[in-house]
Amino acid sequence: MAARALFSAPPGLYSISIPPLSSLTSRAHRVLLSHHLHVGPLSSSSSSSRRRCHYRACTDESKGPTSSDSFVLTTPLYYVNAPPHMGSAYTTIAADAIARFQRLLGKKVIFITGTDEHGEKIASAAEANNRSPREHCDIIAQSYRSLWSDLQIEYDKFIRTTDQKHEKVVKDFYARVLDSGDIYRADYEGLYCVNCEEYKDEKELTENKCCPVHLKPCSLRKEDNYFFALSKYQSKMEELLTNNPEFVKPSFRLNEVQSWIKSGLRDFSISRASVEWGIPVPNDTKQTIYVWFDALLGYISALLENGENPDIQTAVSSGWPASLHLIGKDILRFHAVYWPAMLMSAGLGVPKMVFGHGFLTKDGMKMGKSLGNTLEPTDLVNRFGADSVRYFFLREVEFGNDGDYSEERFINIVNAHLANTIGNLLNRTLGLLKKNCESTLPFSSTEAAEGIGLKNTVEKSVEMARHHYENLALSSACELVLDIGNAGNLYIDERAPWSCFKKGGETAEMAAKDLVVILEALRIMAVALSPVAPSLCARIYTQLGFTEDQFKSITWADTKWGMLPAGQKTMDPKPVFARFEIKSEEELQEAVSKAVKSSKKASRTQGMVGA
Ligand code: MSP
Repeated sequence: MAARALFSAPPGLYSISIPPLSSLTSRAHRVLLSHHLHVGPLSSSSSSSRRRCHYRACTDESKGPTSSDSFVLTTPLYYVNAPPHMGSAYTTIAADAIARFQRLLGKKVIFITGTDEHGEKIASAAEANNRSPREHCDIIAQSYRSLWSDLQIEYDKFIRTTDQKHEKVVKDFYARVLDSGDIYRADYEGLYCVNCEEYKDEKELTENKCCPVHLKPCSLRKEDNYFFALSKYQSKMEELLTNNPEFVKPSFRLNEVQSWIKSGLRDFSISRASVEWGIPVPNDTKQTIYVWFDALLGYISALLENGENPDIQTAVSSGWPASLHLIGKDILRFHAVYWPAMLMSAGLGVPKMVFGHGFLTKDGMKMGKSLGNTLEPTDLVNRFGADSVRYFFLREVEFGNDGDYSEERFINIVNAHLANTIGNLLNRTLGLLKKNCESTLPFSSTEAAEGIGLKNTVEKSVEMARHHYENLALSSACELVLDIGNAGNLYIDERAPWSCFKKGGETAEMAAKDLVVILEALRIMAVALSPVAPSLCARIYTQLGFTEDQFKSITWADTKWGMLPAGQKTMDPKPVFARFEIKSEEELQEAVSKAVKSSKKASRTQGMVGA
């Protein structure tokens, strides 16, 4: 009979049963008994090497190679149990906007995304679809890639946890943690949520014992697993948060993390005996590595170039530690508690910041594959275009908080902001320039702005927008940029250049200057909004007479007033953003089924090309 020692642990109604001597190495068992469940390390290395490894977190290596001119950011690696929905697209859209902003600042950005492909949940999804896990993962990973392309996501690395190089990095990492004496073996019993791939604390569950996120019953499981000695990192984790209050953002999530740590860190199991679809535990092929202990490493393995020696050291020297992990609030514990402790154990640096955003909800419930209340991003993109989708979610949902979707609100917002405030202003101004100045700027924007207050407003707004982008306050950044458009509209209405042109002489000259001032404000808006709505901003730039290449090479320095030269020819005004109509229920159904048909047709064509 196994001796049983119970202790409560998040996550998990979690008990450790000390297995009979025969199932443990005698050394492990000895340590187990003498350490009150800080059961013995399984490392074959000497204790001196374990001691050495334990302090690796303080060495130079842990500081990593990232410098102030690089910016490494990650999205979560998405589960491939089903194709992406709007909730999964949300993080990636936000990450792309941040990556684009950092590139504008001149940073060397490495934007990492990818897919989390191992574990029970994925194996079951494959089986349900009558596919092999590999086949299933290939199909779903591709659907992520094609959505990212539709949404104009410009990632630098796409890592799949089934990539060979990833497996090698996971094994290297496991060996380091083992070497630090932080892995031991013990029995495990708890309530498991397959959708979270996590043992749950009974206290967290709903009345009928369901996972509070997925509302599905958790099952009682008992397994002989390998454990990570998280509890050893209690004081280091406390120190990390005390010394780096910026480590978890927004600040209200830091409180949450602090309270988890305060309640005492408990070891967690990092292998599964019952799951075949995973990376085998080194030296024990009967177990696979727990999907989280595998997937988190994707942030490091992604740094490897194809064909490069796939070891962890090479990966680390290409950009670790990350500057920012962007995640949803449901996976905060993994990123802000488990992951840094795992990294410390392996002697690697911890990421600089973990930002936990809120959920996109439908009727107040988290939108998700498991609840089946998702919003199809491909439909939205087909109907409204990538700029609208990107803009709406970044502008409407305060980054960090939850946000509910409504189609009516979506259409009203993009019409008001993108079609009216920006599009109409550009169209009217270019129309007046065509009519009165043959679509040629009679003054440079510097000359035109002399003594004009709008310039100040623009400069202040753009500076504040930068500040908001830097602080990941994406909605406020959009708001500030839109303020420029509002100020431009107010200005044109007050100055009424259309009637001033009729008066001729100096009044007409002032009217021409007014047009240049407004166009310069729009140009600056195009630079400042380009992280969020890149295509729209490219169209604005080309309408203003710049080439596509000139737009591609803009930097944040181009938000400075004075880049429109006298004599520049602008294009004939053409709406840069078409308004959408709010449709009746029937019209909506028709539009959706049309979009679905066309996306199916497109994916069939892609399939043919792929084959
Ligand atoms: N595979 C893990 C992450 C491993 S990272 C090393 C995972 N995958 S997931 O596909 O379930 O979720 C990925 C991300 O999508 C999470 O950050 C999650 O919060 C986010 N979202 C899923 N549904 C969401 C909403 N309805 N709203 C906003 N984000 C949501 O967890």
